[in-house]
Amino acid sequence: MIFVDACFRKPTPYTPVWMMRQAGRYLPEYMAVRQKAGDFLTLCKNPEMAAKVTLQPVDIIGVDAAILFSDILVIPLEMGMDLKFEKGEGPVFSDPIRTTDDLKRLQPDAHERLTYVYDTIRLVRERLANDKALIGFTGAPWTLITYMIEGRGTKTYNIVKKLIYTQPDLVHALLREVTETVKLYLEKQIEAGVNAVQIFDSWAGALEKPVYFEFSWAYMKEIAAYIKGKYPHIPVIMFPKGIGAYLDDIDGEFDVFGVDWGTPMALAKEKLGERYVLQGNMEPCRLYSKEATKTCVESLHAIMRGDGHIFNLGHGILPDVPVENAKYFVNLVHEVTRK
Ligand code: CP3
Repeated sequence: MIFVDACFRKPTPYTPVWMMRQAGRYLPEYMAVRQKAGDFLTLCKNPEMAAKVTLQPVDIIGVDAAILFSDILVIPLEMGMDLKFEKGEGPVFSDPIRTTDDLKRLQPDAHERLTYVYDTIRLVRERLANDKALIGFTGAPWTLITYMIEGRGTKTYNIVKKLIYTQPDLVHALLREVTETVKLYLEKQIEAGVNAVQIFDSWAGALEKPVYFEFSWAYMKEIAAYIKGKYPHIPVIMFPKGIGAYLDDIDGEFDVFGVDWGTPMALAKEKLGERYVLQGNMEPCRLYSKEATKTCVESLHAIMRGDGHIFNLGHGILPDVPVENAKYFVNLVHEVTRK
């Protein structure tokens, strides 16, 4: 698999490419399945439909890897929390965790109840071409607990940060519990057939440096080391968004570092390029223009030269991007990087 080879810095005929959030609303074919499912969580919980949308970007856009269609928030959902996706607002938990007593509500063995995810993986792996990779994923414990504590998306993170600075032990207890679940969840995804795993730390950039390393990166490293210890042949991709200023202190046992669009690729290469393969990092809004896409693909290739690089966006693709432009991006990467 070209994607897996690239994760291990083995030679490939061209630089592989996929896009975060590639299975989603910019695809009319996704919207059709989504409509049939009724709501988003029903779609996540239906392996037949989830497998179908997982495969769409491979068939329609030509990416080198599929990413499992699911959501990071199925973990807190299966820990017993009440999750709803509300129109215009996104995810909402009606019963956020704020106290030590609230912690007791969380149920163990969430990984045992996430069977619909493993069923989706098995279906996709059966149907996906042998040379295409299937990427499994999880949210990082820090990003997950921001939703579990705040109860919804936030601009200020004031509720979770207040707990960090006033009751750090409570926050660490919650992080510990989520971390144990995440380890077992990724392990089960691997046993079901994923070929790589990515840890999304979408809200990494909300924390100041020492607090980030204590409350997020330490747990991500622990998860990565656990997976690498048991499954050395499975690439682990870390994607902490918004910490371009902290790269000097990044370390740990993993294979690929996902570079967000706010971090210059040349800087990431200088700081991390010898130790880790780099994934990224086109600004997703460049996809609105073929010219802007071309400029970026060429400049990223000039920096990386196909050495230790996986092409991707620097964050998720947006719902109003023309499908044609997404195809153009993927074809162009293959063309420009072909050896
Ligand atoms: O990348 C993929 O194609 C795989 C599927 C995937 C989804 N969510 C599908 C989804 C993945 C990897 C995620 C991860 C996820 N979910 C993250 C981290 C990734 C990132 O972008 O940093 C986060 C923070 C979430 C939580 C979440 N889920 C939010 C905030 C929302 C609302 C977003 C919005 O724009 O409405 C979701 C819903 C969601 N997850 C959608 C999709 C395709 C849209 C749901 C719909 O069809 O209405």
